[in-house]
Amino acid sequence: MTMKALLSKAPGPPESLVLEEIPAPVAGEGQLVIDVKAASVNFPDSLMIQDLYQFKPPRPFAPGGEVGGIVKAVGAGVTRFKVGDRVLAVPGHGGFAEEVAVPERGNVFAIPDAMTFEDASSLLLTYGTSQYALKQRANLKPGETLLVLGASGGVGVAAIELGKAMGATVIAGVSSPDKAAFAEAAGADKTLVYPRELDKEKQKALSEAFKQAGGGGIDVVYDAVGGDYAEPALRAMNWEGRFLVIGFPAGIPKIPLNLTLLKNCQIVGVFWGAFTQRDPKGHAANVAELFALYEQGKIKPRISARYPLARGGEAIRELMDRKASGKIVLVLD
Ligand SMILES: NC(=O)c1ccc[n+]([C@@H]2O[C@H](COP(=O)([O-])OP(=O)(O)OC[C@H]3O[C@@H](n4cnc5c(N)ncnc54)[C@H](OP(=O)(O)O)[C@@H]3O)[C@@H](O)[C@H]2O)c1
Repeated sequence: MTMKALLSKAPGPPESLVLEEIPAPVAGEGQLVIDVKAASVNFPDSLMIQDLYQFKPPRPFAPGGEVGGIVKAVGAGVTRFKVGDRVLAVPGHGGFAEEVAVPERGNVFAIPDAMTFEDASSLLLTYGTSQYALKQRANLKPGETLLVLGASGGVGVAAIELGKAMGATVIAGVSSPDKAAFAEAAGADKTLVYPRELDKEKQKALSEAFKQAGGGGIDVVYDAVGGDYAEPALRAMNWEGRFLVIGFPAGIPKIPLNLTLLKNCQIVGVFWGAFTQRDPKGHAANVAELFALYEQGKIKPRISARYPLARGGEAIRELMDRKASGKIVLVLD
């Protein structure tokens, strides 16, 4: 049996991906094979195909970190799933293909009846990360101010929705008025458009603007951008604030540590993927909570563009060029 997959055969840009017919995966012991119905695009896809990500799969490989689909086959020893189950999974890569094999003990869950495959493919990496960050790492409390940097992106918009669901006042930092409107529609209380380039003066002004937007200061910063934006956000923090380190599309910032002393605040690292492996029970409880929030209509992946599998490279390009808002999804028939 064969299947179509969008392959990275050499490190390169999204345009280097090629659609090929390759042998379909077989469910080995403890594995299930998923018939992929939808696969979403995430920032790590853009890094992985260029060999710029912390994890480098052997080539050829298909990018695609998360999928929604139907269990097509189960291997020996699989007890949690049967053929025909509707599931979501986070294989890390391999999702831009008609089928993907995942370990039963990995990041795979049966989805509620009401959840579409597109939403299923757009849930865990973004909402899972933001939920773990805000709940377990920041202990965000009702009434606190939450500043989200990169608020119109995948994890950012999930942080807006979850921050609101947790009772925070949410300030969305974005790079254009269009993205501000998008963040507002997702529930942000305030939006702040920051410049695309920052010098020292602009950093100072941005820090003041963050403070003002927070009514004097910020309790929790969710930094999905890094670069020159991190320090102004840290300088705007309240006493005992928590600064969440999520990602670095704008570069890895260097922070003067004296700021943490002056603010009596914490800089908190967030590594959601490792958390899901180290604490599978805690992760499963978080997923159950996300499913409940989805069924109550409190969270809803904001899918702004859909592509067929063959055009997956264009989908990654859209994300890399900062043209995307929310999620982009590859839809397989
Ligand atoms: N820590 C974890 O466990 C974890 C889990 C998942 C993802 N992540 C990381 O989170 C980050 C976002 O991932 P995502 O999938 O949500 O990506 P995404 O949808 O592409 O969002 C990235 C956001 O960053 C902004 N951005 C991109 N380049 C920028 C630049 N040069 N300067 C300022 N802002 C920039 C974009 O907004 P604008 O265009 O408005 O600037 C966009 O909103 C990535 O670094 C990813 O690796 C971390």
